[in-house]
Amino acid sequence: MLDDMLEAGSYAPMLLKDRRAIVTGGASGIGAATVRAYVREGARVVSLDVNDAEGKRVVADAGAAASYVHCDIADRRQVFEVFERAVAGLGGLDVMANVAGVERRTPAENIPDEEWDLVFGVNVKGTLKGAAASSTSDRELESAARSDPLTTRPRKAP
Ligand SMILES: NC(=O)c1ccc[n+]([C@@H]2O[C@H](COP(=O)([O-])OP(=O)(O)OC[C@H]3O[C@@H](n4cnc5c(N)ncnc54)[C@H](O)[C@@H]3O)[C@@H](O)[C@H]2O)c1
Repeated sequence: MLDDMLEAGSYAPMLLKDRRAIVTGGASGIGAATVRAYVREGARVVSLDVNDAEGKRVVADAGAAASYVHCDIADRRQVFEVFERAVAGLGGLDVMANVAGVERRTPAENIPDEEWDLVFGVNVKGTLKGAAASSTSDRELESAARSDPLTTRPRKAP
């Protein structure tokens, strides 16, 4: 139904108009669909992934409101650095979509330690790092805005 409405040009609710979003795992699957949908709904989106070729292709396809930055969400230092820059560039953060993930489908009895470490490092710890970095970056920006209101716009009410 949405496809029909898009094709007919009759779908334009702009549910995320002017919202500022970060999407992890934006190069593929659910993350790529999220980047496209958020832009279609009026958001400005920074897409993060480790698959640079696909990540760039998806944002080019999504439109000028989307940009791509390489970020390994399992790497704490990288996550905090990238989020700080992304949130400053967006002027704040309204939406955080933690989609990046890995799946190996190895039978439980055969999963080697390295695979447990990879899956937990990305899917569990990576998600926590993204959540921590996004709240930290936004808090710092809001605190800067309180001392200098011209540095950013206040977060929009939901
Ligand atoms: N597709 C489904 O039906 C479904 C259902 C339930 C859960 N999931 C889980 O949701 C997540 C996303 O699913 P998908 O189908 O979009 O998978 P996908 O493989 O198409 O996309 C995952 C994206 O995450 C990126 N990624 C992997 N490691 C990363 C890292 N360290 N840093 C940054 N980006 C990284 C990949 O490059 C890829 O672009 C996966 O963990 C998957 O297991 C998917």
